[in-house]
Amino acid sequence: MTDTAKPGPKVLAIANQKGGVGKTTTAINLATSLALSGHRVLLVDVDPQGNLTSGVGRKGERAEAGTIYEALLTDAPPEGFLLSTQVDNLSLIPADRNLTGAEIELVSVPAREHRLRRVLDPLRAQFDLIFIDCPPSLGLLTLNALVAADAVLIPLHCEYFALEGLADLVGTMRRVRGSLNPSLDIEGVLLTMYDDRTNLGQLVARDVREFFKDKVFNTIIPRNVRLGEAPSHGMPAVLYDARSRGAAAYVALAKEMLARHAA
Ligand SMILES: Nc1ncnc2c1ncn2[C@@H]1O[C@H](COP(=O)(O)OP(=O)(O)OP(=O)(O)O)[C@@H](O)[C@H]1O
Ligand SMILES: [Mg+2]
Repeated sequence: MTDTAKPGPKVLAIANQKGGVGKTTTAINLATSLALSGHRVLLVDVDPQGNLTSGVGRKGERAEAGTIYEALLTDAPPEGFLLSTQVDNLSLIPADRNLTGAEIELVSVPAREHRLRRVLDPLRAQFDLIFIDCPPSLGLLTLNALVAADAVLIPLHCEYFALEGLADLVGTMRRVRGSLNPSLDIEGVLLTMYDDRTNLGQLVARDVREFFKDKVFNTIIPRNVRLGEAPSHGMPAVLYDARSRGAAAYVALAKEMLARHAA
């Protein structure tokens, strides 16, 4: 059999242990853009803050079998954790504050780093892409995401210390590759909150490209108030204000990602 249809990575962890760099915003708007263009997409909230869950208008909601907390800590079938969203083709595994305890409770569970993989593997056939929104830490929840994922998408805030601390993430990925998930790849580095009125943004962008080379997406996400406002309306920015620069950038990112996968 010839390998004509090379499948791209399907499960993507959106990770950076630094807080507030645009992980959740990227998960919501990239996933929604892809769902709007007809792809079957699943969002997985692995952050006890639950920002992804509230950002798609599902704050405090549980699926039939519960939230990601029960998905990780019980053996209930994964299908029971899927919630629909206001967007066709976009599903969610929600999270709430209970997940805070999981980081500790998982420690004594057998194969504790593989729990999320166990949940997502049976769901792969139902979706074209699965995005995992990680918390701002390199703890057991993020580790579970890195073990479950085919590749990592790293959002980087365009500011002075952007690259600092990234060594920890890259080091963690290297360790995961060495043992728990040898095929873990870097999907790409995404420059976020870019302000073209300052030189600093351009300098940081240049440094990041020097370091990560062609792993950096051409699409840059600008600083845009609509991206900041949309979550308080429980709506993805690409729906809340589709004409905003922020929304347009995420639609462009979705196209760039698909083009890369097709190449
Ligand atoms: N490009 C942008 N322009 C303006 N505001 C943005 C942009 N991207 C994200 N924001 C806002 O900045 C804040 C942090 O973004 P977000 O929640 O996506 O980051 P995060 O990396 O998921 O944070 P955490 O580490 O806490 O999970 C949010 O209030 C979000 O609405
Ligand atoms: Mg977040």
